Amino acid sequence: MTRNHPDVTLLAHNYVRPEVQDAADFVGDSLELARLATGTGTPFIVVAGVDFMAETAAVLNPDRTVLHPEPCASCAMALRLRPEAVLAARAEHPDAAVVAYVNTSAEVKAVSDICCTSANAVQVVNALEEDEVIFLPDRNLAAHVAARTTKTVFPVPALGCCPVHQILTPADLAAARRAYPGAEVMVHPECTPAVQDAADFTGSTSQMLRRARETPAGTVIVGTEIGMLHRLERDVPGKRFFPASPLLVCPDMKMMTLEVVERAIERRSPAVTVTAGVAGGARAALERMLALPGP
Ligand code: 13P
Ligand code: SF4
Repeated sequence: MTRNHPDVTLLAHNYVRPEVQDAADFVGDSLELARLATGTGTPFIVVAGVDFMAETAAVLNPDRTVLHPEPCASCAMALRLRPEAVLAARAEHPDAAVVAYVNTSAEVKAVSDICCTSANAVQVVNALEEDEVIFLPDRNLAAHVAARTTKTVFPVPALGCCPVHQILTPADLAAARRAYPGAEVMVHPECTPAVQDAADFTGSTSQMLRRARETPAGTVIVGTEIGMLHRLERDVPGKRFFPASPLLVCPDMKMMTLEVVERAIERRSPAVTVTAGVAGGARAALERMLALPGP
């Protein structure tokens, strides 16, 4: 799609519609998109994903224009956390480091110490000097980390979660295993701890892709947003992939249609703006994460 627009790079998340993934210059998970955003040389970056992904690209590229083709496409989990709640948690746990999952607003990142994604959350927490960590805003990812660190993890808010991954149940996985005997079950760490325990593998979307290539299983049940099936089918030919539930659809990711992406590229709009004060703090938290060796 950017062939006629050499000044534009189109980045797409693994969850967007198949035709948008196919039109993109790069497709990846949140960590890969954050890294790619710092490595692109074009004056315009278009992010086909939800708002925090475009904001992250904008914060990391103050000298370039980042376009988010559908500004209404917001991460429902990120929307629920305001910076005031982070400051209150800091006051309650003054010795704790604040780790913000990238699925947060720039305002929340700006009052955090370091960011993480689902691909590197355990590594980020273990790299910190502090023995206590305030982990924002997904309680399921926080539980995943807490099970893999000796540090004390305080999830904030206590009930934060992704409404898409939260609906998956161990019964869904059992039903999928019955339907596809011998299949491997992969889930995202935004799923509940009970679902993660019932799965064979838990990982970010990039880690799922790697595991799908490596597993000897020929059939894989995929416990994450349904867009991931296209990425897996495209990149891992010869294996079969089935959704763990037909309900795993993120409506905000689906707002990113080919039409809105095309229109944004033609018009070079709408651009993402983050105020300088917020961007500075958010950039520090993101760059601290990106400075760590990759997972
Ligand atoms: P990944 O970082 O694994 O791609 O996940 C992003 C996300 O929004 C999960 O719901
Ligand atoms: Fe946010 Fe969940 Fe959608 Fe990911 S799937 S963007 S965490 S609402």
